[in-house]
This record gives sequence, structure tokens and C-alpha cells, in this order.
Amino acid sequence: MKILSGKNVVITGAASGIGRSAALAFAAEGANIILADINAAADVEQEVRAKGVKAAAFQLDVSDPERYQAFAKEAIDWNGGVDVLINNAGFMAGGAVQDCSLEQWHSITNVNVHGPFHGVHFFLPHMLARGSGHIVTTASLFGLAHLPFVGPYCMTKAAVVAFSNSLRSEVAHQGIGVSVLVPGSVATNLVNNGDWHASSGGNMIPEMFEKHGSSSPEQVASALVKGVKKNKRQIIVGRDAQMLSRLIRWLPNTLYNSFGKFAQQTMT
Ligand SMILES: NC(=O)c1ccc[n+]([C@@H]2O[C@H](COP(=O)([O-])OP(=O)(O)OC[C@H]3O[C@@H](n4cnc5c(N)ncnc54)[C@H](O)[C@@H]3O)[C@@H](O)[C@H]2O)c1
Repeated sequence: MKILSGKNVVITGAASGIGRSAALAFAAEGANIILADINAAADVEQEVRAKGVKAAAFQLDVSDPERYQAFAKEAIDWNGGVDVLINNAGFMAGGAVQDCSLEQWHSITNVNVHGPFHGVHFFLPHMLARGSGHIVTTASLFGLAHLPFVGPYCMTKAAVVAFSNSLRSEVAHQGIGVSVLVPGSVATNLVNNGDWHASSGGNMIPEMFEKHGSSSPEQVASALVKGVKKNKRQIIVGRDAQMLSRLIRWLPNTLYNSFGKFAQQTMT
């Protein structure tokens, strides 16, 4: 979608971090923004309006299909349709697979996987009927490189990479673009808000983020806007993501062996 000015963009998880920065970046292109978050996003709504475009904020738990269906209708009616959907809401959980409770598996799957496919389910028919649109889902470097102690998170992010690739092939000839956003570590509330099982390696990720630095949410948002304009399949952001995504393609066994050694050291 080369021109974003005047387009209507839905962003989930828009109250903070990457979602908030994405809202401001699309607004700077002249797009109108529909913000959706489980938390109130009234302050981001004001920031977006200050850019001279229209904005509306909705409270939405993306894991709730009934609420999502009602939201999608409201969003489509709000300003004459939806052109771009950014499936971005998500959270992180960590700990050894063997220590994660069923509740943890279900809750991360409900938000990080069911949320995005609810978005696709309720907005795609509208886009297909119009013969245009773009859907982005925020995955993660962990959707490509599956580190120890973040198994549930890796699973959810790999799942959205998979369905985005399938969807992209299916709808490309119908005028719909599909991208997957793959950031490395980004300085947001994600890690602090995460569900960590610290006793079993789950504190590795917060420590890693702190040690290795990260991209800013503004850098991610800028890459996201460019990626939508170019209809990129994967929008990989950050030096860590660029490097590790290549290594995992070229030297998977070496990398997974080193992850294994690291896990052994951590757990013994
Ligand atoms: N920060 C990182 O290092 C990083 C890296 C790769 C991918 N990501 C992904 O980026 C996305 C955005 O995360 P962020 O880093 O901006 O973190 P964040 O915590 O700042 O933002 C996440 C937003 O999602 C919202 N949210 C959470 N559960 C929700 C639900 N059930 N329904 C609706 N909204 C919900 C939160 O309220 C919050 O506003 C997530 O999908 C995350 O997995 C983040």
C-alpha cells in the first residue's frame, strides 16, 4: 500500500510501546488511526489527533472473539472502512517448558495467537470485498530463533509467522498485502509486564535485554511503515534480529547446540 494518507489503520496493543509508536508513525503519513487495547489508550488518541488526523480509541481484549467481532464492526463503520490492520497486542512469558502451567500456555496462546487470527477473521472479509488492504502481525525474533526458557512465547510467535506466510500467498492476487513484523529486543514495557518463571531460567530474557541493548519503538514503527508501503513479507528490525535470523538459517545446528549448552549450565 504505497499511499497511507487518508487510509484507516487499526492497531491493537496501541496503548504503549510499539503499538503507540506505530500509531504516531502512521498518523505522520496522514492515516487515520483506530487504537485498540485492553487498557485505555485515550492519551495516545490525543497524541495522534495532534498530528491532524482522526483517531478513535476502543477498549478490546483481543482474545475475546465476541468482543472482537463487535469491535471490528465499530471500526469498519467509524470512518468508512479499514485499510490496514496491525495485529500487535501481545505479552511475553518465560520459564522452562516443563515448569509452565497449563494456564500460562493457554493465556499466552489466547492473546498472542488467537488475538491475531481473530483480527484476520473479522477484518479480512471486509478487505476482500473491497479488493484492497494490508494485514501485519507482530511476531518476534523469537518466532524465528527458538531460545530456551521462552518456549510458550516462541511457540506463539512462530505460529503467527506461519499463518501470515500462508495468508500472504492466498490473498496476494486479491489485492491484499500481508507482512510479519520481526523485531529483536525493543525498549518497551513488554519484559517488565511479562509472566516470568524466574526459578527455571525465566529471568534470562530480562537480563539479556538489559545487557544487549535494543531498538527503540520509534525505529520499529518507522520500519513497519516502510514495510507496509513496500508490501514486505518479513520486516526484520534491529541488529540482533538481523544477525540471529541469518545465523539460524545458515548454522541452525551450531546455534541450537549452543542454546542447549547454555540451558544445561543455567539449569544445573
Ligand atoms: N519489546 C520487544 O522487545 C518486542 C520484541 C519483539 C516483538 N514484540 C511484540 O511487540 C508487540 C507489542 O509489544 P511491546 O513491546 O510494544 O510491549 P508493550 O507491553 O509496551 O505493549 C503491548 C500492548 O499490548 C496490550 N495488550 C496486552 N494484552 C492485550 C489483550 N489481551 N488485548 C488487547 N491488548 C492487549 C497491552 O496493554 C500493551 O498496551 C507484542 O506482540 C510483542 O510480543 C516486542
